[in-house]
Amino acid sequence: EGTIVNKKLVLLGDMGAGKSSLVQRFVKGNFEDYQESTIGAAFLTKTMPELGLKLEIWDTAGQERYHSLAPMYYRGAAAAVIVYDVTSPESFARAKSWVRELMRQGNQDLVMALAGNKADLAAGGDGSERKVSAEESQAYADENGLLFLETSAKTAQNVNELFTALAKKMPRA
Ligand code: GTP
Ligand code: MG
Repeated sequence: EGTIVNKKLVLLGDMGAGKSSLVQRFVKGNFEDYQESTIGAAFLTKTMPELGLKLEIWDTAGQERYHSLAPMYYRGAAAAVIVYDVTSPESFARAKSWVRELMRQGNQDLVMALAGNKADLAAGGDGSERKVSAEESQAYADENGLLFLETSAKTAQNVNELFTALAKKMPRA
């Protein structure tokens, strides 16, 4: 009873998509309107006792000048969260290019999730801020065998669900 397995998880995605905010929400349970852009990468851990798992989380920097560092963080990772912003088609294109890179260079049995973040901006009013439809993303995720959820680090929508679904899909060996 009580054995905890360590697993490495990496977040990738365009700058400003909300990687750090999702990790902050998941690990610390809060949200900052003025989250600072990540330099290099940040490391956090989260123990999920009910799953017998300790996640070692690498929150990478989305700015293009850090791209060459990414393999250091996704190499050996059991899971990856690829984050885009539902109000930004550019960030969705960037997410797809991360998926391609991980399929070429990532771990064989890497478990991947696509997170369409800032869903709070799309949910309210007339929905005018949404630029990437959930249907399009779901179809892309299905084609590529990814988990897909729309999330909001701001409201906490689907944040625990995202990490829990990934954790459950990770190979335990
Ligand atoms: P880099 O570190 O530069 O790669 O960016 P990042 O992907 O870590 O994005 P970050 O978490 O720093 O968020 C960028 C901005 O978006 C910040 O001002 C956040 O407050 C905001 N933000 C993040 N997630 C959400 C969300 O779910 N909803 C809304 N409305 N804003 C969000
Ligand atoms: Mg960041």
